[in-house]
Parts: sequence; C-alpha cells; structure tokens
Amino acid sequence: MKRILLTLAVLGMAFSAFAQPQLNENNIEEVLKAMTLQEKATLLVGGARAAMVNGVTSGVSASVPGAAGNTRNIDRLGIPVTVLADGPAGLRIQPTRPGDPNTYYCTGFPVGTLLASSWDLSLVEEVTKAMGNEVLEYGVDVLLAPGMNIHRNPLCGRNFEYFSEDPLLSGKMAAAYVKGIQSNGVGTSIKHYAANNQETNRNEDDAIISQRALREIYLKNFEIAVKEAQPWTVMSSYNKLNGDYTQQSEGLLTTVLRDEWGFKGIVMTDWGNKAGTVKSAKAGNDLMEPGNQNEIDRIVAGVQDGTISQEELDRNVRNMLTYIVRTPRFKGYKFSNKPDLKAHAQVARKAAGEAIVLLRNENAALPLKGSEKVALYGVSSIDFVAGGTGSGDVNKAYVVNMVDGMQNAGFTLDKSLVDFYTAYKAYDAAQTAVAGSAMSWFSRRKLSEVAIPENGINNQARANDVAVVVLGRNAGEGADRKMMDDFELTSVERELLQRVSSTYHALGKKVIVVLNVGGVIETNSWKNLVDAIVLPWSPGQEGANAVADVLTGKVNPSGKLPMTFPVNFMDHPSSANFPYNYQQTATRGFSWGPRQPQKDVDYTNYEEGIWVGYRHFVTRDVAVSYPFGFGLSYTSFSYSKPVVKAVADGFQASVTVTNTGSVAGKEVVELYVSAPAGGLDKPARELKAFGKTKELKPGESQTLTLNVSAYELASFNEAASAWEAAAGSYKVQFGASVDDIRATAPFTLKKAQSWPVHNVLAPQAK
Ligand code: BGC
Repeated sequence: MKRILLTLAVLGMAFSAFAQPQLNENNIEEVLKAMTLQEKATLLVGGARAAMVNGVTSGVSASVPGAAGNTRNIDRLGIPVTVLADGPAGLRIQPTRPGDPNTYYCTGFPVGTLLASSWDLSLVEEVTKAMGNEVLEYGVDVLLAPGMNIHRNPLCGRNFEYFSEDPLLSGKMAAAYVKGIQSNGVGTSIKHYAANNQETNRNEDDAIISQRALREIYLKNFEIAVKEAQPWTVMSSYNKLNGDYTQQSEGLLTTVLRDEWGFKGIVMTDWGNKAGTVKSAKAGNDLMEPGNQNEIDRIVAGVQDGTISQEELDRNVRNMLTYIVRTPRFKGYKFSNKPDLKAHAQVARKAAGEAIVLLRNENAALPLKGSEKVALYGVSSIDFVAGGTGSGDVNKAYVVNMVDGMQNAGFTLDKSLVDFYTAYKAYDAAQTAVAGSAMSWFSRRKLSEVAIPENGINNQARANDVAVVVLGRNAGEGADRKMMDDFELTSVERELLQRVSSTYHALGKKVIVVLNVGGVIETNSWKNLVDAIVLPWSPGQEGANAVADVLTGKVNPSGKLPMTFPVNFMDHPSSANFPYNYQQTATRGFSWGPRQPQKDVDYTNYEEGIWVGYRHFVTRDVAVSYPFGFGLSYTSFSYSKPVVKAVADGFQASVTVTNTGSVAGKEVVELYVSAPAGGLDKPARELKAFGKTKELKPGESQTLTLNVSAYELASFNEAASAWEAAAGSYKVQFGASVDDIRATAPFTLKKAQSWPVHNVLAPQAK
C-alpha cells in the first residue's frame, strides 16, 4: 500500500511539473503564459507584510530576519522568494535570532560620504566586494544600496548615506559601488530615484525642478551609474517630482531610465503603500515594497477594468522573472551564514584611512609621534558615531570608539577625562532606562556635549602633551538636521573649544579637532582656534582606529571633500528653500481637513537651478570655509604642464604628479573644464574627471591620463530638449581642489554637437 501511495505521489509530482513549467533562464515567456492574473499581480507586490493570499503563499518564512523585504514565491511555477535588505554602509539584518546561539552581525563600513571622500573607485569596489560577500553569505539577494541622492543642502538628514554635491563624483562612486556588490552575483538597488533631497515630509513633498537642473544635477548621477554598472534594481523615491510621485512617473521610470539610458532591471518602490498602485505599475514601477494585499487587489482590478493593459502587466512580470532567475535564491546557492567578518573589518579600517580628510594642519601640528599623553575631550570620544540612524544603520558586533582607537595606537589617555565621559554616558543610559524611552530605530539619541568642570582643563593641560577634541553629530532617516545646534556648534561645544584652545596654547601645546559628523557643519568661525582638523565623517566600526592611524602618520591622509563647507548655511542658494528649522510635531500629518500647502514641506522649489554646491560658490565668487575637492596631506605634490589631445570622441588629458615632500603619499587629481562663452549660462568650471595616484615615495612621479567625451562636456538646453556641447575653446584645468587649479591647457571642440532627448518631466505651474 505504502509503495502504491509513493508511486502515485511521484507520478503526481511528475504530472504537475509537466503541466506547470518550472521557471528557468530560458522559459520566462512560457512561465509568463502559465501565470494567472492573480499570480502575476502577486509577483509585483512584496511579501513582507503578507500572509497566505488566495492560495499563493508569501515568502515571509523564507526571508532573512531583519531583511527589509522580499518578493513572493509561487511554488507551482518554481518561483522562489527573493530577499531584499538595507544598505548602504553594510548589510542590515537582525544580529540574533530567538533560540539560536549563532550571531548574524555584519560589518559596519564607512558611510557613503566617507567613501566618496576617498575619490578612489577601486577602493570603493574593494569595499563593496567585501560587503556584497556578506549579502551573499547571509542569504540575501539584493542590497538596497547605494544611496546616491545629491547633497543639495548640507542639512538633508540622510546626506551621510549619499556621496556628493557633484553628479559626476556621485555617479562614478555609485557605479563602483554597484560593480563591487554585483561581482558577488547579488544585486543592488540604487536609490532614491529621484530628487529625494530632504527628509521632511519625504512621502509627500513635491520637488519642483527645472528640466535643466534635473538632467544635469539630479538625474546625471543615476544616468552614469545605470550606464556604467547596470544595477539589478532601482528604487523610486517617496516624494513627488514636478507634480507626480516618482514611482508613478512614466517619464522618469520608462522614458528616461529605460528608453534613454538602457536600464534592464526592475524598479521597486521605496517602503510604502501609495494608493496609486496601478499608476505606478503602468509607469514602469515593477515591484511594490514592502507589499500589501490591497496592492495586489488594485492591480487585479486595474487589469480587469482596463486601467492597465495586459501588455503593461506582462512587461513588469517579465522584468520580475528576469530578475528572479539571476538571484542566488533561485540558483539554490547554499549560503554559509559565516562571512569572514575579521577580514572585512580590516577592509573597513583601510577604507576609512584612505578617505579621511585633513582640513587643517597649522605648522605641521600633525602627525603626532604616537607616544604622547593625550587629553581626549568630547562626549563623542566615547559616544562615537560609526554610521547613522534608520535603515542606513548596520547591526555590527562592535564599534571602536576614539578611546579604544587612541589606546590601540599607543597613546596614553588622560584617565580623569575618560572616566568623566564614561560616567556621563552611564548616567544618561540609566536616566533613559528610568524614563522608559527606548531609543527608536529612527532616533538613536546622541549624547549632547557636556561642560568640563572648572579647573579640569587647567590641570589636564599641564598633565598632557596635546588635546584632541572630538565633536560629533548623528543624523538619519526621517528628519532633516537643523541650522541651530547642529549645523552651528552648540554653545557648550563652542565654549569647550575656546577654553581648551586658550589653555593649551598658553602652555605651547597643540589642539586637534576630530569631526565625527554625518554631514557638513559650520567651521569658519572656530577653525582658527585650533591647530589641526581631521574629518573622518561616520567612519564605520573600525573608523576610530583609522583616525588614530592618521593622527600618528601611519596613514598619510589623502581624502578630499566631496562637497563644499560654506562660511554660512545661508550661503547655499538652496537654503532659501529648505526646511532647516522645521519642527516635527505630533499633530502634523494627523490634522483633519484641507490645509494650505506649506513651502519646503509640501512643495520645495529648487529655485537655485543648477547652482548647487561649488557650481554656485566658484561662479559667483562666494567665499567658503573649505572648497569642494579640498584635503591636505603630510607631503606636497607638484603638477606638470598637462598634455591635452583631441581623440575621436572628446579629449584625453595627462598630467604628471610628483611627490615634492618628505613622506610617501597619494594625491587626488581633479579635472575641471570651463566651457567657451556664449550659449548656455555655465558654471565657471565643472568637474569632468578625476583620478588618484598610487602611493608616491618622496621624489616619485606618476602620470595620470583622464578621458572626457564630448557628451560629458554637454549642458542641457531646455528649449531644444537636447544635450549640447558648444564648439570652441575649452579650458582644461587640473586642480588639487576646485579653488586650487595647478595646471591648465586648452582643448578645442571643432564642431558643436547635440543629443536630443525626450521632452519629459517639465515642472507644472504651481
Ligand atoms: C528607506 C529606504 C530603505 C527602505 C527599506 C525606507 O524607509 O527610505 O532607503 O531601503 O526603507 O528599509
């Protein structure tokens, strides 16, 4: 009897496999044909919050704990669940599981802004190759990263996740990031497409942007990443752009992304559930995340009432199936849950060291010897920020703080200060526990700076050789930073810097500042008080070791700023249209009835157009605290006269860089171009290419050769809806920063060229 049953079961399985095609790389059309409407709709909606739906099981149980979402399985057609998890400073999954003695920590790598400060594409690829290995080995298919929105304004709460104020640097960084992750056979999701440049009311805010600014600044970086690296997926943003939710914008998701740039993967929504599911699907948004039953219902109804055509539905499902067959889950990869975290921690440390920016170093205050007695000030020395808050946070096994980092490097720390800050942190933790206000995922609280007791500084200055002051800022998803007490120093921080500087300087001792910040802060009013400023941003779990390496000179800093440090916040033209003082109130969002649209909250006018970051400062000659592309070294470099020659498609420019100082070091070389006058109003100069030397020994030289195509010289002419490169003489400039041009040569574009594109995404009158 048993045998008969078994035979029947086997026959049954064989029959059902015969009747129902099982998905493979070569039968996507066949599987598509075999799918019911319900199944098709199911595949277009994530399964993170769903249970069993109309006989189609969701993939919750097969997902990885702590992953942000998944796509749904359809067992009868051999379609497995695939798993999506954040990103971008490392993989974010739950580190422990109930009843399981194993741990699932991931490496906390440097944040995007620090990676961009390296200006080193191969380094970024090395980092993300390691990061992608954790994605693969923890059973995840797509890392929801990189974050790559433009730093339109210094106070966007998520700038730390993003790369730069410049689209070329941002696009190249993103391409390198994608290549590194995807070299593991897992995918990326470049995000948030597009114009998600503020967190305030990010779900509804309408970014109103001219077509030129959109094409040149806010889409250009995505264009570069898509064309150079073909990410598996793109994440549309929450916000509106020129009147439409980006996830419902056919111009953005189909015309520009696929038709013009040749994107081949899937588009998924950011994590929400907007009512216009059908409009999203029609626009080319393939996957709704995290997914809800009502979205499936809406798609089914949309097909039934003809709002979305069968062809449009099939197009999206085909995209999904094409994505699914590439995934490790589909291929049955046996993940180990045991990536080499030790090796990856070393990658994280190295990357931080290669990217830290030295902003100031008066009278060669740095490097230190490493044997000094150090008075380490600032609560951030102990409450160190390795990453940021929200989905960009990584559950790492440990964070090396500045106390550990300095001690690991051999410094002797003033014990009274370490004890003082340790006690303050413990006191705060106890208070928080008593108040019962658990720190939420979105809002890990940063300890505010605390005043040092009277006389403390005098005693410490006498007992130690040098003061190191760590100033910290935390930021994250869901809220923008504020101008007061965030961009600006707090009064306690200012007083600390003043008192430490005057006391130590009176004794002929140096003061070094370490900026453990997620975004740009004001530096102009206080930088002259101190001898050196080191900027590691939020450098990941090993970052404080890297800071110590820079302080001792074990690592010669070679990072440069991927954005401008302005004198005043209001010097950025975007500040006139940014919610820099917005108070999140409990009532907003819950208010009943219509209300007047609020500027910078319900809509944001990008009135500054293309004049973002250095484009504004260099063209209008506005003084800055530290310019775009700036960073010091412990050595110096000279630049030869460049050689520029025309090639079939643009020009090739070479420059020889020589280490003219006394220690080994690397130099980032920035190639800027000034366009001929006439035609469109252009920035005084724009970054068109960059490179970084290898480590050059004193006296050693290296020739860097960079290519720029005619298309890359083009600006966007709205009237013609075309990219245009004017004929005439271009000034090719090699700079150590945008304000420090070292060598110049001309290039002549003989014939004007133009590349027409679709006239889409125009702002609607408000
Ligand atoms: C964030 C995304 C993230 C997603 C999943 C959203 O709130 O904006 O960046 O990937 O959540 O966690």
